[in-house]
Amino acid sequence: MGEKRDSFGSKFGVLVALTGSAVGLGNMWRFPYLVGTNGGAAFIILYLICLLVISMPLMITEFVIGRRSQANVFGAFKTLSQGKKHGKVWGKIGFISVITALVILSFYSVVGGWTIDYVCQAIGFKFTQGVDYEQVFQYSSTSAVRPLVFTLIFLAITAIVVIMGIQKGIEKYTKVMMPMLFVMVIFLAVYSLTLKGAGEGIRFLFLPKWSEVTIQTVLEALGQSFFSLSIGCGTIITYASYVKKHENILTLSAETAFMDTLFALLAGMAIMPAVFAFGATPSEGPGLVFVIIPQIFSQLPMGGVLAILFFVVLFFAAVTSSISLLEVMVAYMIEERHLSRKASVAITMSLTLVLGVLCSLSLGVLGNVHLFGNSIFGFMDGLSANILMPLGGMLFVVFAGWKLSDKEYFDELTNGGSMHISPILLKVLRFLIRYTSPVVIILIMLVSLLK
Ligand code: PHE
Repeated sequence: MGEKRDSFGSKFGVLVALTGSAVGLGNMWRFPYLVGTNGGAAFIILYLICLLVISMPLMITEFVIGRRSQANVFGAFKTLSQGKKHGKVWGKIGFISVITALVILSFYSVVGGWTIDYVCQAIGFKFTQGVDYEQVFQYSSTSAVRPLVFTLIFLAITAIVVIMGIQKGIEKYTKVMMPMLFVMVIFLAVYSLTLKGAGEGIRFLFLPKWSEVTIQTVLEALGQSFFSLSIGCGTIITYASYVKKHENILTLSAETAFMDTLFALLAGMAIMPAVFAFGATPSEGPGLVFVIIPQIFSQLPMGGVLAILFFVVLFFAAVTSSISLLEVMVAYMIEERHLSRKASVAITMSLTLVLGVLCSLSLGVLGNVHLFGNSIFGFMDGLSANILMPLGGMLFVVFAGWKLSDKEYFDELTNGGSMHISPILLKVLRFLIRYTSPVVIILIMLVSLLK
């Protein structure tokens, strides 16, 4: 191996990096909007159930795989399947995650680019009353050159942090960005709650409307918990491989999931009351953040400053997630292809950029190119969320449940038996990953494919 293996320096560093990966655009716009269109608190309750029963066990499993192998996502399965039946085949499944990370990052960096564009426009105090925000969004997302430039800037920032390595790059910068993000989101939520008419937004968020719940709602809740926790695509495995052997990975998983949910709720409280106070529609989708929010800010006192704050928040959330996606590919290149960190970043970033450019252009100039009835952007989004992530997640749990022995699994969770974890909890966890998770994930995949 070309380099000595890096690791996170402190427990706090691990936690902010993991939270940084989990908290992203998924929390900031997707969660509030899904809550809005799927029965309010009913969705939140379903989301929490999915989180506890499927996503948390999967996350813990990724921790076990990553930390036990101390390797990139491909190397992890290669190492752990050695000497097992069909070990050669199982040893290759990590490659799917490298591809998944590439696919997600290609469209994620386009949206990340928009956030930088909006920060620049907000700093230029462009978001004033009377502006046609639909048109601003069209211009920022569908022009031929502008979004490409911002996608490149977004990827370059991601790359610079990743080049610096785990402790001196990822840990150091997420440690600064995440607490700032936290403070800013709380400020925005509190501010939003003081707006006249905010109560309706809160009622909308927190009153369960069970009549609106369908099987589709359950699917959305599960899918959201996958995407939001960054599971099923090797990011947790990769980050966990840099976690020291004495850390408690069970509590780390629980803390990450807790922080991720907290951020989603805070984002909901920052956005929904404002949306209702200004009579906008909550089911706006991507437009909710890029069209409605600047419009709302333009009508508020100090709105110009708030708009800068909001889009910086969105940028931070997006970039700490993209860093974790790039690291999946970079760790693979370093350890399996024996390249330097710099060369690995250069190659993976270039590949992502090519796909990112195609995704971006598919919203404008290449709008008539369709893949399975979708734009290239939509195709990448659907491919990762509906196929690659659930597939990855299912392979991970089946591998850990059926190829790793109880002893191996528990040994990693209890740090070689030096830590006490309730035997009942261990048994339940083992049952969930052996039976419940694979079955539910297959069902979800089937239903979402047949849709
Ligand atoms: N969890 C991130 C979000 O909520 C997205 C993400 C998915 C990041 C998969 C890394 C891996 O936006």
